[in-house]
Amino acid sequence: MTATDGEMSVAQRVEVLRSQISDHNHRYYVLDQPTVSDAEYDRLMVELQSLEEAHPDLITPDSPTQRVGAQPVSGFDSVRHAVAMLSLSNAFETEDVEAFNKRVADTLRGAGLTNNDGLVEYEAELKFDGLAVSLRYEQGKLVQAATRGDGQTGEDITSNIRTLRSVPLSLRGEYPVVLEVRGEVLMNRADFERLNETQQRRGDKIFVNPRNAAAGSLRQLDPRITAQRPLRFYAYGWGELVLGDAPGATAKQMPLSGQQRHQSAPTAPNASTAHETQPDAQSEGQGALQTLPDQAPDPAQALRNTHSAMLDWLATLGLPVSPSREVVRGVDGLLQFYENRGGQRQKLPFDIDGVVYKVNSLEAQRVLGFVARAPRFAIAHKFPAQEETTTLLDIEVQVGRTGAITPVARLKPVFVGGVTVTNATLHNEDEILRKDVRIGDTVIVRRAGDVIPEVVGPVIELRPENARPFVMPQHCPVCDSAIERLEDEAIARCTGGLFCAAQRKQTIRHAASRKALDIEGLGEKLVDQLVESDRVKSLADLFTLKVEELLLYERMGRKSAENLVAALQRASKPELGRLLYALGIRHVGETTARDLALHFGSVDAVMAADEEVLLRVRDVGPVVAGSIARFFGEPHNREVVHALEAAGVRPRAVEVSDGGAQPLEGKTLVLTGTMPNWTRDEATRRILAAGGKVSGSVSKKTAYLVAGEDAGSKLTKATELGVTILDEDGLKELLGD
Ligand code: IVH
Repeated sequence: MTATDGEMSVAQRVEVLRSQISDHNHRYYVLDQPTVSDAEYDRLMVELQSLEEAHPDLITPDSPTQRVGAQPVSGFDSVRHAVAMLSLSNAFETEDVEAFNKRVADTLRGAGLTNNDGLVEYEAELKFDGLAVSLRYEQGKLVQAATRGDGQTGEDITSNIRTLRSVPLSLRGEYPVVLEVRGEVLMNRADFERLNETQQRRGDKIFVNPRNAAAGSLRQLDPRITAQRPLRFYAYGWGELVLGDAPGATAKQMPLSGQQRHQSAPTAPNASTAHETQPDAQSEGQGALQTLPDQAPDPAQALRNTHSAMLDWLATLGLPVSPSREVVRGVDGLLQFYENRGGQRQKLPFDIDGVVYKVNSLEAQRVLGFVARAPRFAIAHKFPAQEETTTLLDIEVQVGRTGAITPVARLKPVFVGGVTVTNATLHNEDEILRKDVRIGDTVIVRRAGDVIPEVVGPVIELRPENARPFVMPQHCPVCDSAIERLEDEAIARCTGGLFCAAQRKQTIRHAASRKALDIEGLGEKLVDQLVESDRVKSLADLFTLKVEELLLYERMGRKSAENLVAALQRASKPELGRLLYALGIRHVGETTARDLALHFGSVDAVMAADEEVLLRVRDVGPVVAGSIARFFGEPHNREVVHALEAAGVRPRAVEVSDGGAQPLEGKTLVLTGTMPNWTRDEATRRILAAGGKVSGSVSKKTAYLVAGEDAGSKLTKATELGVTILDEDGLKELLGD
């Protein structure tokens, strides 16, 4: 093989790899149908990288290896857009949309461009909540990318945009001589969450929302950072467009202007540029309907008539175009699209802040033209904002059932996510510190869908001088007991237990809930009154309530009182699991409560069990066992159980599951070293559950030593004493696992 042959084959291999990688990118990011694993993709990339390293002369700017990020820059150059990037007028109410449709319909009727049914045809799209960018392709290659800027001049972010895998570096198929693609750069919500987790771990800046994260990532001076940010791109329009006789380019000049072409727009000094490169639509209009003489209808020709067909065409060039588009007719079609997409908003992987309606016919778009900086043929129909800013008036604390103290933000009322919000959760003390939220701050409040409103973070620039940090109170605002925060816990707690009216109310609400004792007719307001009047001091007091006394409470009629007493009667014969769940023991959910019931068969048996015995229950680990033991260790909790019994609450009988013979009954085991699969805790739990004991030191009484990797002195001692030595598998066998 001659040197030249060798070069050729390397060059060819490089080409094959580039085209394969670009295909995979396209399948993954544009079609959402990947056909190879990440590992396979990485292998292709590594091969290409090493070939290029060995043959640097073969590196081209559109090689996928060049996406990793070029050298940092000290600032961005300005880019004057060949065709201005306009914005959209907004519609908030149905009436705004009706008015828009009427204006459009009237103008088109005047121009004789009316459909048979008199309805205007629109393309309806999502309004991506990201950043507008313009990507310029010349001869099918990405040559420049720019931000919107003021619409006339933006910033050159080519190196950053190159790092986005969803942006093709070369167009596919028959490309035009010049194409400026307009679209939005954004970040998926899940990617945003992950990015913030990484940022927090590294002690780097936390972003308040995906849009901010996308903006920050796009405006990085170091493209290597942008390369690590999960940015995506969706095309929704075009600017300059020149079809021509470039090799591989479509055969003719494109006889239409981009949607942003605006030779009639007064604010567009550069309109002439667009004009020069784009033939006049009026004179070339007929060409749009012609077909090439020697073949079937030219797909590139058919697209010339509508916005939707243009976007379909962009997709054939390998550009990501949102599949969530629809061609609709008349105002009803628009509003239906709005309702439908609004309902699915939370299910989309990225944020949208509305939908966009565009008159579909490009001819009609030209007739409608532009007003100031926005087209007359399109409008954005906004959803109610999910984020708003307001003032943080105060931070108060709420006491939960287990005494957990939750800081709650008291806000100047703000309309967000379709409701007026006055309170929002701040989760816990650390969260407040992490977000650096202070009383008096202007804060961003978010309410997405049915999720409870939360404070996203402060607007630092607007912080008043007298803003003050939150201080966790030392005493419970309800019962004045001490507030404690254990070292390894995020949550501070009121130590008042059932002495605290707040905890009592929550305990009773919890006990009455559907999955617990299911006491119908015991509403929140009534619970508040019963606790506040001291009539109900503990759960047991509920079961002594009489119709006559209930009548004395607000909004209590005889019928409701009788129903409630009947419900209490029914609730006094619960399944044991429900009763255990109703007690509100920390870490004991419905499932654990049911397992406890099956294992022990009575409340008394559960109360009598120590931690070691509790560990034998299915799925009960040290944390849960500790919590149960602590709960019943408290005299007042035992009293509640006895009082319940005295008030006639008797669980239905349950059959205790026969755990079968306990394989390790009476045997003591010692654990040492690291086991391949089980942690020390896990192994301990299994041994206890099998009736065995775990000791910390080896003696003659030791039945088995379970030795993992790096076992030390215990192994030596066990060997000396002749103790049977097992590994993890041996232990599993012993347990019958
Ligand atoms: S069309 C001539 N379509 O909304 C109008 N814009 O408020 C050009 N946007 O700057 C825009 N999704 O960043 C259009 N499907 C969509 C869009 C969209 C989001 C953004 C874009 C623009 C802003 C206008």
